[in-house]
Amino acid sequence: MNAFTYSYPTKVYFGEKAAKTHLAGELAKYGKNVMVAYGGGSVKKNGILNELLEILRSAGKNVIEFSGIMSNPTYAKVQEGAEIAKKNNIEFILAVGGGSVIDCCKIISAQAKTDRDIWKLEYSEHGQPAEFIPMGAVVTAFGTGAEMNNGAVITNEDKKLKSALWGAYYNFAILDPAYTMTMPMKQVISGSFDALSHCMETYMGSPRNTNLSDEINEACQRNIIANLRKTIKDPDDISARSELIWAAAMAENGILKIGKVTDFQAHMLEHQLGAYTDCNHGQGLAVIHPKLYRHMLPEAEEQFARLAVNVWNVSPNGKTSAQLAEEFIEKLSGFIREIGLPTTFSEMGIPENTDLKAIADSTILTAGCCKKFTKEELLTVLNECRI
Ligand code: NZQ
Ligand code: ZN
Repeated sequence: MNAFTYSYPTKVYFGEKAAKTHLAGELAKYGKNVMVAYGGGSVKKNGILNELLEILRSAGKNVIEFSGIMSNPTYAKVQEGAEIAKKNNIEFILAVGGGSVIDCCKIISAQAKTDRDIWKLEYSEHGQPAEFIPMGAVVTAFGTGAEMNNGAVITNEDKKLKSALWGAYYNFAILDPAYTMTMPMKQVISGSFDALSHCMETYMGSPRNTNLSDEINEACQRNIIANLRKTIKDPDDISARSELIWAAAMAENGILKIGKVTDFQAHMLEHQLGAYTDCNHGQGLAVIHPKLYRHMLPEAEEQFARLAVNVWNVSPNGKTSAQLAEEFIEKLSGFIREIGLPTTFSEMGIPENTDLKAIADSTILTAGCCKKFTKEELLTVLNECRI
């Protein structure tokens, strides 16, 4: 295992009625002017926003609402939020939503504290923001695990890039499974696949020999697969959903990454697909993963073989690791079909004339991936994803 330092800045309140029980206590630690940020209105329809506003008003806060944060949040939306935060002297941000709202607020919290352009600061000057407005996250859609990390995936429409910016950690996160009951099943499935992808992307990094992080990772993958199946069968099964919420947070809160350099090549490719098409993140990953993994097979044989046996219950008896690795890709592809995720770009509704070469050329090649892809190979993968 590589050397590491471990500490955790985000306090998690997990369970039904977590907001009612814990939010007022947390709010008491922060200033009076609170920005409540949310997306396109699902939290208005399902009553979550009203429940939270009541708690905020009882706590004597001045509330400014910031709404309309879109899926795949844009840098322009970050700037809009930062302006409002500055103008209203916002002292605390409460993000209410899925990964998009949660990510957007991480960068608003930094941009509101500086006149420097955060994108330029991080990508041209190789700096990091140092000051942040404190924040809390109320998770209403699980999958990304964004509530427990400080990376934010933001689309810069001018530059045609969907990239990570590094912002603040949430001071606390509220994970109430009941708040996710109104998630559309399509989002439950794509979010859960995103969480499974985070596990695999971490597992496929290096070192490649098995270690404690990988063994916890395998348990997370088994848990996501089993509980997604249960949730599809019975959408009201709050216990299965609880497992998915925590597994998704575990997949991206850094614990599985301890002592490892991660892979995330599939994610880099999907993010650029998103920059060009604004597609759903989990769906894009479902199409890309099996195709990309076929190209990684020779280099990834041992790890794929382990996943076949330890996650997908494939019997190793009498099989070579090459055969097991092949079976892993088949199991993964079969699962994607079973849960109704798309298997091609055309099924996702991605226009045929999408500039796949521009997507491949603008994709970051990751250091942790066991195969050193070229841009040409990534273009081949994207072409294989078409139909
Ligand atoms: O906008 P509203 O109306 O709220 O509707 C949302 C949105 O349409 C809806 N929704 C959320 N909670 C709901 C609900 N609908 C009904 N009931 C509820 N309780 O769900 C839709 C999707 O929400 P969104 O936040 O966009 O989805 P997700 O959580 O999958 O986040 C996707 C974003 O996160 C980034 C992705 O790239 C994408 O931009 N990621 C962030 C990561 C991170 N920071 O760690 C890691 C990931 O790899 C990922 O890249
Ligand atoms: Zn993801």
